[in-house]
Amino acid sequence: MKNLSNTEKRGSFGSKFGVIAAAAGSAVGLGNIWKFPYIAGQNGGGAFLLVYLVLLIAIGAPIMISEFMIGRETRKNPVGAFKILAPTSSWKWVGIMGVIASVFILAFYSTVAGWTLEYIRLAVTNQFLNLDSESLRLLFQNFTASPTLPIFWQILFLFLTCIIVMAGIEKGIERYAKYLMPILFILIIMLCIRSLTLPNAAKGLSFLFNPDFSKIDSNVILRALGQVFFSLSLGMGTLITYGSYIQNKVKLPEIAIKVSLTDSLVAILAGIAIFPAVFAFGFAPTEGTGLVFVVLPQVFNSMPMGQIFAIFFFLLLAVAAITSSISLLEVIVAYLIEEYNLKRKLATIISISISLFLGLICTMSFAPNSVFMIGGVNFFDVLDYLTSNIMLPLGGLCIVVFVGWRLNKSVILRQLEVNPDKSIPVWVKGLLFIIRYIAPLAILSVFLNSLGVF
Ligand code: PHE
Repeated sequence: MKNLSNTEKRGSFGSKFGVIAAAAGSAVGLGNIWKFPYIAGQNGGGAFLLVYLVLLIAIGAPIMISEFMIGRETRKNPVGAFKILAPTSSWKWVGIMGVIASVFILAFYSTVAGWTLEYIRLAVTNQFLNLDSESLRLLFQNFTASPTLPIFWQILFLFLTCIIVMAGIEKGIERYAKYLMPILFILIIMLCIRSLTLPNAAKGLSFLFNPDFSKIDSNVILRALGQVFFSLSLGMGTLITYGSYIQNKVKLPEIAIKVSLTDSLVAILAGIAIFPAVFAFGFAPTEGTGLVFVVLPQVFNSMPMGQIFAIFFFLLLAVAAITSSISLLEVIVAYLIEEYNLKRKLATIISISISLFLGLICTMSFAPNSVFMIGGVNFFDVLDYLTSNIMLPLGGLCIVVFVGWRLNKSVILRQLEVNPDKSIPVWVKGLLFIIRYIAPLAILSVFLNSLGVF
């Protein structure tokens, strides 16, 4: 196939498992373990999960395939990719919005990732021991509101992200993801087992799995859509960028399905680990941003060898965060390298500096009486809402419209490895139907609905 020499020069993922590990590494992160439980907790539990899964399968996976196709066809960053496929048009702005979204997400993401590093320290020094629910909540609140410690951890986290991205594709991103993701998976399953054997576990399970349809309103649907985009790393060019490193022999739909399934499985497992404990220890599922940080230490306190589990858990949460943050940083870095001819090292330093600047504002917005509030909402939540619920779905909408209506069909068939001279297989027709009609209409109607248009 074409572009092969270009692939070799640019760096690529070495194996199929490497691709899956890197893409799943991007998808699985704080979004699954920190964000999914608390958003589900605030938006109706089971009802949220149901809407989330429907949207994930119906539009998440097809958008993922679309992004991979754009990336692999052009072997470029999101801006460069649109420039090649639609020269002299405005489509490149979709890529630019993606790069901006990466900076915004990396900013607030590194705040939470920094929290996980502090929680590793707390676990190592056994500081959860004997703390009750209220003390654990205070511990979290005091820590996030403090002026220095969260900043220290955030800088350290971004520094680690930076080192991995500087090492490049196969030696950096792929190498780490391949080993660390499977370990995280095993650990979550162990936590689920402990949580399920707590008193009152059934109540938590029923909260997560029994949908109360009266809870489903336009806000729940918008939040679920935002969560699908955030959790699968969609709509902002991460997967265009990763697609550009995927070798031609790899089957894109297979990767997309495996990554989507892994991602939703981890989110559900995180829910199973957390909600039974929420009810067992008398927390409310609507606890918010601090949910995993205050509930899980209680689970660790209640289990044999809890300290070891706590150390491992927060360590792996940090790892899951880093395999996602490298994918965010890589979008910005690939853009700077290719569009401005910068060296990888310089591009990485520039990208991380901009993200850190905004990131510090996010972290400081948790201080009491912080000046970093917009209309009563802290800067952290503003960036989170803006990216998940507006920028990523909008980017996703543009991407499916582009692939469905603008991109040459021969490109799509080539990327899906379908012979254009033979009749088109049913699954390809179905996929194209989703990309052309279902996905755009679904995203558009969720948008209009949440704006109160109908
Ligand atoms: N998907 C990641 C997570 O769930 C976050 C992310 C979003 C990463 C967008 C890259 C792009 O934690």
